[in-house]
Order: sequence, then C-alpha cells, then structure tokens
Amino acid sequence: MDKILVLDFGGQYNQLIARRVREQHVYAEIRSCKRITIEEIKNIGYKGIIFTGGPNSVYDPASPTFDKKVLELGIPVLGICYGAQLIAHLSGGKVESAKNSSEYGKTDVYVEKDVLFEGVPENSVCWMSHTDYISELPAGFERTAYTDKCPCAAMSCTDRKIYAVQFHPEVTHTEFGKQMFANFVFKVCGCEADWTMDDFIERSVEKYRAELTGKNVLLALSGGVDSSVTAVLLHRAIGDRLKCVFVDHGLLRKDEGDFVENTFKGKFGLNMVRVNAQSEFLSKLAGVTEPETKRKIIGEEFIRVFEREARSLGNIQVLAQGTIYPDVIESGKDDSSTIKSHHNVGGLPDVMAFEAICEPLRDLFKDEVREVGVKLGIPAKLVYRQPFPGPGLAVRIIGEITEEKLNLLKEADAVFREEIDQLGFEKAPNQYFAVLTNSRAVGVMGDARTYGYTVALRAVDTDDFMTAEWTRLPFESLAEISRRITNEVKGISRVVYDITSKPPGTVEWE
Ligand code: XMP
Repeated sequence: MDKILVLDFGGQYNQLIARRVREQHVYAEIRSCKRITIEEIKNIGYKGIIFTGGPNSVYDPASPTFDKKVLELGIPVLGICYGAQLIAHLSGGKVESAKNSSEYGKTDVYVEKDVLFEGVPENSVCWMSHTDYISELPAGFERTAYTDKCPCAAMSCTDRKIYAVQFHPEVTHTEFGKQMFANFVFKVCGCEADWTMDDFIERSVEKYRAELTGKNVLLALSGGVDSSVTAVLLHRAIGDRLKCVFVDHGLLRKDEGDFVENTFKGKFGLNMVRVNAQSEFLSKLAGVTEPETKRKIIGEEFIRVFEREARSLGNIQVLAQGTIYPDVIESGKDDSSTIKSHHNVGGLPDVMAFEAICEPLRDLFKDEVREVGVKLGIPAKLVYRQPFPGPGLAVRIIGEITEEKLNLLKEADAVFREEIDQLGFEKAPNQYFAVLTNSRAVGVMGDARTYGYTVALRAVDTDDFMTAEWTRLPFESLAEISRRITNEVKGISRVVYDITSKPPGTVEWE
C-alpha cells in the first residue's frame, strides 16, 4: 500500500491534510517532526512527504525544524505554509516577516504553469493565514503562484519534485485545494489509489485472525460507534473468542440498553454479556450533586464492574479497544504498531493482566470508521448516531440523581428525539437531547394546579464539537415537542429551549 507522510510541525490543520490525502484513496499518516528520523522515513518507504503548517517563524532558532537531508532523499515533498517557508529556509532562500501586509482569509491567487496546478484556473481563491513570507527563493526554485500581497504564494523545483505553497490547500475555502492534492499524490508521487475500506476490512480480518490465533480477547462494548465497529470487525476475525462486556449503568437513554443488546446479539451473534448494574451505580450516586464527582464515581464504578466481569470470564489474554486515529494523534502515541504491549489507555486499570492491547481502528478517522461500520452491515441508525457522553444521563440531570428523575428525563428525551426524527436525517441537528433542570415551576392542567420539573431542550450544530451553534429548530416543531412533553410526561410542567452557543456555553449542562 502506498503511503504519504504528513510531517507535523505543529499546524492546526494536520489532521485535515491527512484527510484530504485519504479522500484520494491514498493512505496518509501524521508523524510529529520530533518523533521520526530520516532513517525511519527511508525504511518505511513513503511515496511522498507533506510538511504541515505551524505557528512559528523558521528564522527563530527555537522553531521546529528537520534534517535538511529530507529534501535529498528523492521522495517528493509538498510544503504548506510554515512547511513551505521551511523548505525555503533549509534550501538557502530567505523568509521574512511582513507585519504590515500579512494575509488572513480568502485571497485571490494567480497560478502559473506547474504540475501541482494542473486543472486549476489561473485566477482562483485560496485560504491564507500568514505573516512571514518567502522573500527570496532558494536556488533552483521557480515561483509558481502569487497574490496581490504575497510575491511568492507557491514555488517549485520540479527536477527534485519539491513543491511549496504559502496558502492552505487543505481548507475547503481554497477552491481547487482538492485538485492540488490529487496532482501531488498521483502526478508527482505516482501513488495508486489503493486505500479503500473494503481492503481495510479484508486486511484487518486476515491480520487479526493470524495474530490472535488461540487467544481470547475482551472488549468493553458501549454501543457507541467505535466500540461497535471494533466488535463486529474482530468478531469476523476470531468469532466467539471475542468476549464483549456491555455495562448498562442505567444512565442510558430510554430503551438504549435493549437496542444495543438486540442489535448485536440478534444480528451479529456476538459473544456478549450485558451487565445490568443500574442499582449499583444509582446507590453510589445517591446524594451527589457536584458534576465532576458524578463523573468520577461513574468512571470508577465502571472499572470495578468491568474488572469483575473480566475475572469471571477468565482466561483472557488480550484487551481490545475502540481507539481511533484522532485519539492516537492527540495522545502523542503516533507510532505505527497496532498490537502493542499493554499500557493504561481509556481509563482501564493497569492491574488487569493482559498480554497485549489490540486497537484495530487506530489508523482510521471517524468517517472512515463509519464507512467500515456500514460495510460490515451495522445498522445506519447505530453507525451515524450522535455522540453520547460516557457518564450518560447523570450529567443531564442537574443536582441529585434519583430513579424518579431518571425516568422523567428518559421519557422527555424520547419525545424530543421522536419529534426530531420526523424532521428527517438531513435536517437533524448534530446533537440534541433533553436536560432535567433542578427547578420546578407551577402549571395548570385541567382545573388543577401542577408543580413539576422544568425540562430544557438542547440542540446544536457543529463540525467538531469544539465550537457549536444552537440549532434554529422550527417553531412548529418546538411547539409540538413542548405540547407532547407536558402532556405525556407526568411530573414535567414546563419546557424551555437553550439558545446558548459554545462558547460561552458547553454542549452538556454539567
Ligand atoms: P461539552 O459539554 O464539553 O461537550 O461542550 C462536547 C462533546 O463531548 C461530549 N461529552 C462527553 N463525552 N464523556 C464523554 O464520553 C464525557 O464526560 C463528556 N462530556 C461531554 C458531549 O456530549 C459533546 O458531544
């Protein structure tokens, strides 16, 4: 399989660059410039290298850099923003600060004839974000693009297959960015488009069938996308030697425990134990009101229940986890092995004796995980589900958690979800749920006075959940949801809609 190295110099778009390459069906992996050597690069046999952007200035001696021999390996290189400036700097060109003419945002760019720009019109829009610029080109390089403010928006040395762009082709605002990546990986690097999820499944099944021969593997199945896809993939490889433990802490949405159990037991025949631990969790949470304490109790209790089940299953050698690529990059563990000796990840205790950890999805981005899920036949309802926090409804009940409050919230949330379902998949917000506030309000039903809880509805639109905009749900839908909740859920007498974006709010209330 052909591989592209995304050499990371601290850029905020490093994952996006890898995504753009993978969209061309070429495998790309991100490695920090501090954690890979020239020797490794040669041994792995990358077909191309992309230098990412970064917040520093190349002329500052403390800035991240790389052995300039990387430009002499004969492997094609594409530098982006800081990466472009680094190529200039390492090759004897000059980079300076343009404090009064920095560019930020959509910018007209004029490109000249170059293989990187095949199929790109002479004048188009790119995304710029820089203060430093290449003021003198290194020997052997030619300018291939400019903007009104930036004399060198791109340069190349075609003999050595080295390309550099000051702008960000990975950002969608760069109109022809996708075309530029395709030109680089196919026309410059000569890659084959051989990264497909069908192949991934086939390769993984073969690999784990061989590596896990005779071993029993344990997986904590939550019903979330990542652990579900891990389960079905490994089940294909090793069948019943995969043991799944699904801890139902009672803080799941209405009917969710049954949904998870039926989905996997019925269709995939997974060897799954469901542990109904609702009363254990509730008794530990009794009287607790502080959000972080709730989270801590749930995390600890989860481990205890899981450990107990693992012990009673016995004879387990390997722990499987639904770790995905962003988890790997963000935790700084970007080495490439997929089965490695055990270290403590995901909150599971070190005292549990496993020979190894198995993370079949650790090279995949979320949308690739979803594609694998669909190809494995997991229902779309599960594969495309919205995120759900590990501590579940505990962080959506303000104040103390009681069985009564839990039931009220489950019912109100179910009504909300049913009504959103009516809007159709395309119009549904990225995440939506009900929160049971700790306030009561007076109401009237028939001729009687009521005094019930206030429920808050939360719905957000977001790409990454780091920032989010509250969803402008149609008033008619909100009216219907409010009417149904106050009529159908005895104990709730008022419904409010949360119109706080993130920031300043968070998505969850606790
Ligand atoms: P916040 O509330 O931080 O949430 O804006 C951002 C996203 O993360 C989810 N979330 C959690 N997920 N355990 C999780 O597994 C947690 O403790 C947790 N807290 C928040 C939240 O639902 C949203 O999608």
